[in-house]
Amino acid sequence: MSMHNADTQAVRGRFLDIQHTASQPEDIASHIRYIEDGLLLSNAGKIVWFGAWADVDPKLLDGVAVAHYPDQLITPGFIDTHIHFPQTEMMGAYGEQLLSWLNNYTFPTEIKFKDKAYADQIASFFVNELLKNGTTTALVFCTVHPESVDALFEVAASKNMRLIAGKVMMDRHAPETLCDTAQSSYTESKQLIEKWHEKGRALYAITPRFAPTSTDAQLSLAGQLKQEFPSVYVHTHLSENKDEIAWVKSLFPHHAGYLDVYHQYGLTGERSVFAHCVHLNEDEWKCMHDTDSAIAFCPTSNLFLGSGLFPLRKAWQHGVKVGLGTDVGAGTSFSQLQTLGEAYKVQQLQGDTLSAFEAFYHATLGGAKSLDLEDCLGNFNVGKEADFIVIDLNATPLQQLRQSHASTIEDHLFALFTLGDDRNIVATYVNGQKVYSSSLTT
Ligand code: GUN
Ligand code: ZN
Repeated sequence: MSMHNADTQAVRGRFLDIQHTASQPEDIASHIRYIEDGLLLSNAGKIVWFGAWADVDPKLLDGVAVAHYPDQLITPGFIDTHIHFPQTEMMGAYGEQLLSWLNNYTFPTEIKFKDKAYADQIASFFVNELLKNGTTTALVFCTVHPESVDALFEVAASKNMRLIAGKVMMDRHAPETLCDTAQSSYTESKQLIEKWHEKGRALYAITPRFAPTSTDAQLSLAGQLKQEFPSVYVHTHLSENKDEIAWVKSLFPHHAGYLDVYHQYGLTGERSVFAHCVHLNEDEWKCMHDTDSAIAFCPTSNLFLGSGLFPLRKAWQHGVKVGLGTDVGAGTSFSQLQTLGEAYKVQQLQGDTLSAFEAFYHATLGGAKSLDLEDCLGNFNVGKEADFIVIDLNATPLQQLRQSHASTIEDHLFALFTLGDDRNIVATYVNGQKVYSSSLTT
């Protein structure tokens, strides 16, 4: 009799992942695991066997159909640690830096998400876009409207995705129709936590937009919520733009700096993720480290809004966790491949570099660690959740030419990050099931 039930899935092919988290970028290469011909077996969404095809006991596969991808590369699904689903329709809004971009483009767009039917439509488009780009987990901003959170979690649940999201808390310096109050933001966030947090694969994030759009009273209640529900996330923006930083200083004169505002309200910690952190000072780097808070590095957004160059080396030096964020709609692509290509250039402009293996780390296991999810996501270790993608290295004639001149896996990866995009994603598996395929026949 077969030991399997209908929930068993088997995938064979070339596998690449990173076996351990790293405290220095130089260590990553020795943690790379490349299996030229391997098998991954999952049951009920969890990896139950992973290794070389040659080591497979045939009894393991008794009665199980094997999906075989002999010509592709199979990696863990990408993790996007900062993105705004309601901003999908306003990518590429022209000509502004952060604060005027928010007022002129972002707030008018976000007002539309009061309408649940509209939020449903964009949530569905957004999740499909994540999956076709190989992103299997994301930490997502919704809008101030609780309906927008329901819309997103409902679509994610229909795909069994591990997704973290929350309602924006914002009670000043935005159009009145887009503001809540300190009290309503607390009550609505609490209701959403009770409704969604740890239901299926959903996780909730307390989401004050950024310090300038919250009163002290709101930030204080956000901190109280975090104390009441310690396993939820905190997700916000920090130190993105110089005018923004000066504004925070004038709004919160009694705080030592921008991060100190969040810190004093109890919003730092191992499940706190701060997008950008382009211009942190030494005290702030130390506080990020001491509180085990994480950074979402968003290169396409930082370039698009002219915010600045994120000093990735400093994060390693200070032992601060970093994940990769697309930050759509200030970011210009849903693709983690394109985002890594820009991350490399951001390092080059600072006289630093970014190896292919380090880049791969940030998009997979490092991203999982920055979300405190390295025990369930980020590589193919048995017991982890079966979220993975099938990548075609040769999606265009140009890529084919370039890849034919690559000899090492590192070089193949680097060319993929430089030239690749959603055309390279052949299939996306979430919780062991194929939820996206680039061709209807595979
Ligand atoms: N800071 C506050 N809100 C936002 C936003 O929507 N996008 C970006 N990039 N930065 C922000
Ligand atoms: Zn953002």
